[in-house]
Amino acid sequence: MLQGQKIVPAWPRYDARVVAEVVNQWAVITIVLSGIALVAGVAFIRRGNREAHMRAMVLASTLATIFLVLYLTRLGLGYEKKYAGPEAWRLPYFALLISHIILAAANLPLALLALWNAWKGLRAAGNLGNIDAPAARPFFDRHRMWVRWTVPVWLYVAVTGWIIYLILGHSGEVIKG
Ligand code: HEM
Repeated sequence: MLQGQKIVPAWPRYDARVVAEVVNQWAVITIVLSGIALVAGVAFIRRGNREAHMRAMVLASTLATIFLVLYLTRLGLGYEKKYAGPEAWRLPYFALLISHIILAAANLPLALLALWNAWKGLRAAGNLGNIDAPAARPFFDRHRMWVRWTVPVWLYVAVTGWIIYLILGHSGEVIKG
């Protein structure tokens, strides 16, 4: 070693684009997992298992929140891909993308309404065996009313998000990042 020379540790240097791509992959993984937890939650309630339903839905909501954080991080990193596939598929692709964006925005208030009513109902009931108590019933009725929209919208967003990711992986071009 030369005298007076400083030894600088060799930290790995990550390319911002590589970081953004990994963040993007995890965003898709979390939204697909949240879709799976959602389907499991619906299956649980169909079998009358309210406790497992609640756990699955809280997991689905947590995963969807992580997705949102990762998605916003990716946007913050300035990473964007545009469609560069066959011209004939451009219009169907944009129809899919626009429907995905609109329903993803709608999914947030829908999920919050479902969760809010379930939470208020649970507090009024005291426990999940008592959901028909007069103070709790209206909340669970509203819960049932909202989830009729929440579940299909959430599933559509999860499935189309995955399809868009696959399309851009195959026929996408990075325009920023
Ligand atoms: C956003 C998250 C949630 C979604 C998407 C969801 C979805 C559903 C669905 C599809 C049903 C069946 C509705 C029907 O049969 O018409 C249901 C019922 C129910 N959910 Fe949830 N749920 C969520 C969160 C929760 C949570 C956190 C709890 C616990 C506090 C809960 C407690 C219940 C109960 C007790 C029922 C049965 C209500 C009844 O039989 O009247 N749900 N939910």
